[in-house]
Amino acid sequence: MFCKLLLWFLFMGIAASEGDGNFIYRGFRGANMSLGGEAEITSNGLLRLNNAIRQKGHAMYPVPLHFKPSHGKTHSFSTNFVFAILPQDPDLSGSGVVFVISPSKEFPGGENGKYMGIFNETNNGKSSNHMAAIEFDTFFNPEFRDIDENHIGIDINGLDSISSAPAAYFSNVSRRFENLSLISGDLMHVWVEYNGFQNQLNVTLSPIGLPKPDLPLLSSTVNLSSIILDNMYIGFSSTTRRFQSSHYILGWSFKMNGQAQALDLWQLPNLPQPKKKSKVLTIGLPVIVSVLMLMAILAVGLIVIRKIKFAEIQEDWERDFGPHRFSYKDLYTATKGFTDRDLLGVGGFGRVYRGVLSASKIEVAVKRVSHESRQGMREFISEIVSLGRLRHRNLVQLLGYCRRKRELLLVYDFMPNGSLDKFLFDHPNSMLRWSQRFRIIKGVASALLYLHEEWEQVVLHRDIKASNVLLDNEMNGRLGDFGLARLYDHGTDPQTTHMVGTFGYLAPDLTRTGKATTSTDVFAFGAFMLEVACGRRSIDPQLSVDEIILVEWISKCWRKGTILAAADLKLGVDYEVEEMELVLKLGLLCSHPLTAARPSMRQVVKFLDRDAPLPDLSPDDLGAAILAVGPSEGPNDLRLSYPSSSEQWFACTSSLPESALSSGL
Ligand SMILES: *[C@@H]1O[C@H](CO)[C@@H](O)[C@H](O)[C@H]1NC(C)=O
Ligand SMILES: *[C@@H]1O[C@H](CO)[C@@H](O)[C@H](O)[C@H]1NC(C)=O
Ligand SMILES: *[C@@H]1O[C@H](CO)[C@@H](O)[C@H](O)[C@H]1NC(C)=O
Ligand SMILES: *[C@@H]1O[C@H](CO)[C@@H](O)[C@H](O)[C@H]1NC(C)=O
Repeated sequence: MFCKLLLWFLFMGIAASEGDGNFIYRGFRGANMSLGGEAEITSNGLLRLNNAIRQKGHAMYPVPLHFKPSHGKTHSFSTNFVFAILPQDPDLSGSGVVFVISPSKEFPGGENGKYMGIFNETNNGKSSNHMAAIEFDTFFNPEFRDIDENHIGIDINGLDSISSAPAAYFSNVSRRFENLSLISGDLMHVWVEYNGFQNQLNVTLSPIGLPKPDLPLLSSTVNLSSIILDNMYIGFSSTTRRFQSSHYILGWSFKMNGQAQALDLWQLPNLPQPKKKSKVLTIGLPVIVSVLMLMAILAVGLIVIRKIKFAEIQEDWERDFGPHRFSYKDLYTATKGFTDRDLLGVGGFGRVYRGVLSASKIEVAVKRVSHESRQGMREFISEIVSLGRLRHRNLVQLLGYCRRKRELLLVYDFMPNGSLDKFLFDHPNSMLRWSQRFRIIKGVASALLYLHEEWEQVVLHRDIKASNVLLDNEMNGRLGDFGLARLYDHGTDPQTTHMVGTFGYLAPDLTRTGKATTSTDVFAFGAFMLEVACGRRSIDPQLSVDEIILVEWISKCWRKGTILAAADLKLGVDYEVEEMELVLKLGLLCSHPLTAARPSMRQVVKFLDRDAPLPDLSPDDLGAAILAVGPSEGPNDLRLSYPSSSEQWFACTSSLPESALSSGL
C-alpha cells in the first residue's frame, strides 16, 4: 500500500513538471488556459470559444502533455467534457467545435469557417500537421465528405473524417441509439478514450445527466503513435460561419493512462439565461397561450352559466313599476340559494323561503310561484305591484317581486310566528287565549274591510283561511296571499280551470258561478271566524256524524239553546261569553247560503266592535235558510258524500266541470 502511494507521488511529481496529464475543470473560473481568437472565460466560469458571427476562438491547456513513453508507443488516455452550442436561430447552424491534439497551442494559419480555426486550405490533410481532432460539426460540407449537418467525426491531420456518425447516443435503457441535435442548446457530454495497446479510439456522446452510455458512438482503430508527437497540447477550437451562435465548454477533465474524473452537472456553471428564452418562447409561449385561452373559455362558460342561472324576464312596461322589482340574484343570495334549510312552508301557490336581504338586512319571506302561461301576466303583475301599495297593519306587506321564466317570486315581510292554523288545529303545541283569538278575528276583519271598501279599488282576497293568516311578533293576525288567486284566474284554459279557494271556505254561489265577490270573501271569513272560535276545521270527517260540518253543528247547538257548547273545549271557561256568542252567531250569518243574507265587511267590523247590535236571528230562521238551499241549487256532481242533510252547503271540489264555471269566466 505504502509503495503504491509512493509511486503515485513520484509519478505526480514527474507528470507535474511536464504537465501532469491529470486535471479537471468544473467550470473555468480562474483557470490558466491558453486562449486565442475570441475565446474568453466568462464571469461565471464558462469557457466561451466565440459569441458572434464569423468568429474563431480556441482554448488550450497551457502546458504540453507527454504522450509517448520512451519505447515510442502512445500512452492510453481518457478525457470527458461538457459543451453546448447555442445558436441564435435554432434552425440555422454555425459551424462547430473540435477537441484537438496539436503540437502547438496557437493556430496562426487556422482559418475561420469550415476549417474550424485549426487548418487552412494549404495544410488541410497534410501528415506534417501531426494533429488529431474530434469534430462536432453542425454544417454539411460535401467538400470534406460530411455525412450531414449534425455529425461527429474523427479527424486525422485534416477535416476529412476517417470515421463519422450522426449525433446520437446509445440509451442504456432502450438499448439502441437515440438521435441528438447538436444545435439544440442542450448540454452534451462527451467521452474520448484512447487505448494505446489496441490503438483503439472511442468517442461517446450523451445528453448531460445520464450515466455514460454502454456503447460508444464512434469506435475506430487509429495508430496515434504514427501521427502525433511526444509533447502535444490539447484543447478546443470553434468557429462560426454565416449565422451567429455561441459555443461553450462548461467542464473538462483529462487523465493520461487512466480514467478521467467524472463531471457532475450540478458542479458546472449555468449557461446564460437569455439564450434559454428562445426555448421559453418556442415551447413555453404556446403552452401559456393555450392555458390562458382555456381559462378564458372557462370564464366565459361560467359567466354564461351564471347568466342562465340568474336569468330574469323584464319587459319595458315593468320599468314603470321600478322599486318593487327585485333581482333574482339578490333573492338567491338572500335565501342562500333557496335551500331546504330556509324553507318555511309549501303552500297552494308555491314554496316559501326565509331570507335576509343583504343590502338592508331586512328579514323577508320569498314565495316562489310557478306559472305556466304568459297570458295575463302583465295585468297580474301590475295588480301585484299595485297591491304592493296596500298598507294595513293587518296585511302582510308585499315588498316586491321578481319575474323569471315560468316563475314569479313574491317578497313579503317575514312573520316570525308563522301561520295561525298551527295554533288552532291538530293538537297545537301552544294555544291562543281567547283575547288573542278575538283580536286576530277583529284584525283580519279590518284588513278585509280595507281591501273591500277602503282602498282605491275593490280587492278580493279569494282565499281567506287560517293558514293564510300570519302572526307577527305581537301575535297580531295579518292576512297574507291576497290577490294571488287571481294568477290562476287569468288566462287559464276553462277546460282545466281549478276552483280557487279552499275546501270548507267556498261559498255555494262561488261553486255555482265560479265568480268571486266580496260576498264570497265574507263567506270564507265566516268559516274562518268559526274555526278560530271552535279550534277545529270547518269540515272534519274524523268527528262524529253530528259534528263533521262545523256550521251545522253550531246551528244544532244553538237550536238546543247551548251554542257555547260548540266553543273550543281547550279554552275551558276562559273566554268572554258575549264575545264568543257574537263570533259564533256572526260566523253563522256570514256563512249564510244566500248571498243577500250575508253582511258586508263594514257591518261585520261594526258588529265585532259592538258599534251595532247583531240582528235578532233565531236559530230556526237560520236553520230554515240553510235548509232552503236545496239540492237543486248546487250541481249534484260537486257534492261530497257526507251523511248530512245540508251537505250541499260546503259541497265542492277543487276542480269544477266546464259548465259550472263558464258563466263566471
Ligand atoms: C499559466 O501557465 C503558463 C504556462 O505554464 C505559465 O507560464 C503562466 O505563468 C501561468 N499563469 C498563471 C497566472 O498561472
Ligand atoms: C496554413 O497554415 C500553416 C501552418 O500554420 C501556415 O504555415 C501557412 O502559411 C498557412 N497558409 C495559409 C494560406 O494561410
Ligand atoms: C436519426 O437520424 C438519422 C440520420 O439523421 C435518421 O436517418 C433517423 O431516421 C433518425 N432516427 C430517428 C428516430 O429520428
Ligand atoms: C504504430 O505506428 C508506430 C510508429 O509508426 C509503429 O512503430 C507501430 O508498429 C504501429 N503499430 C501498429 C499496430 O500498427
